[in-house]
Amino acid sequence: MFKDRVLSGMRPTGFMHLGHYHGALKNWVKLQADLECFFFVADWHALTSHYDDPRVIESSTFDMVADWLAAGLDPNQATIFLQSQVPQHAELSLLLGMITPLGWLERVPTYKEQQENLKEKDLTTYGFLGYPLMQTADIVVYRANKVPVGADQVSHLEVSREIARRFNHIYGREPGFEEKAIATIKKLGGKTAKQYEALKTAFNQDGNTEALEQAKALVIAAGSLSNAEKETLLGYLTGARRTILPEPQALLTPTSKLIGLDGRKMSKSYGNGIDLREAPAAVEQKIKRMPTDPKRARRNDPGNPDDCPVFTLHQVYSNDETKAWVRQGCTTAGIGCLECKAPIITAINEELAPIQARIKEIDARPNYVKEVLHDGCAKARRVAEETMLDVRAAMGLAKV
Ligand code: TRP
Ligand code: SF4
Repeated sequence: MFKDRVLSGMRPTGFMHLGHYHGALKNWVKLQADLECFFFVADWHALTSHYDDPRVIESSTFDMVADWLAAGLDPNQATIFLQSQVPQHAELSLLLGMITPLGWLERVPTYKEQQENLKEKDLTTYGFLGYPLMQTADIVVYRANKVPVGADQVSHLEVSREIARRFNHIYGREPGFEEKAIATIKKLGGKTAKQYEALKTAFNQDGNTEALEQAKALVIAAGSLSNAEKETLLGYLTGARRTILPEPQALLTPTSKLIGLDGRKMSKSYGNGIDLREAPAAVEQKIKRMPTDPKRARRNDPGNPDDCPVFTLHQVYSNDETKAWVRQGCTTAGIGCLECKAPIITAINEELAPIQARIKEIDARPNYVKEVLHDGCAKARRVAEETMLDVRAAMGLAKV
């Protein structure tokens, strides 16, 4: 029985833009208040594709984490760290590699896609193929069960679950487990023990998942058992196995995707973004220059908000009243595009003001980001090492 734990990471890309904020950071800030959270810079993942470009990785790391903190990530609530300073990720990646069939990695859709997209680079490397495997290690080394990511990462999470399941299947079988489980059932007490047996049979013989859930609830509620004993009985329910590495689930980010200034996805490489550090006047300029519905070539031409990238920003920033005003004004040519854009400029600058105030404070403390990462890495190593003790023992690696 492992408690809820959230983990997510980003490759170091330097200063953050509004797409990162709405697509991930805002959600991370919300999560850290309610759950134990781990957020990290995936600098090893950056090397899988940018192995020939190491100069930028270090500075991008510090720039990115400064913006994370400015966006509201709080080192007192969440553990914020750097992947390459937690060697347990690499160790677990190596060990999981022993049981991960090549085919599982080769058929991850992003593998072929990225190779196609980045044709100029040789991505037929061992490291690049192992991208989702290393990502699995990132997650399961903390036994994190909730992974906030975008839809593009769903296929990676699927592989992660398969690898964790295979690991538990192979290594979760302790000698004498069955005997131990039977002795533990007795501890439940006569009536509860009978119920447990009946529910277990209903699940294993008839595939009754309702019964499985009831049995799990019964074990979790059992006052007579220690946590380790509960673990044993939970594992026994599904096939005499102990869960060493829980299967992680994607926590799909509920926030909307923010579109870039040219109507494509907001991305640093397209140069179509608004940075969290963007000066208010630059925000104004960028929004004013943003293309609108091409049908509104002249002020008197009516347009359609559904064909206008500016309206997607209203979807994020404006209330129903403003959106109705846009729709009415746009379709009747009652308002001009600059008028339509004004509330967005205001909203973005209002959103950025407190973030930029924190940026000032953070940038004034040259060592602050490093200190945060330093402490975060120490904490991360402690937690990761707990898992590794179990993993090494389960895989028969001696301790001397
Ligand atoms: N692959 C993720 C991305 O490109 C980054 C990442 C690496 C990650 N390891 C992870 C995300 C573990 C979540 C959990 O965005
Ligand atoms: Fe787009 Fe607004 Fe112009 Fe309509 S009025 S085309 S929604 S910017």
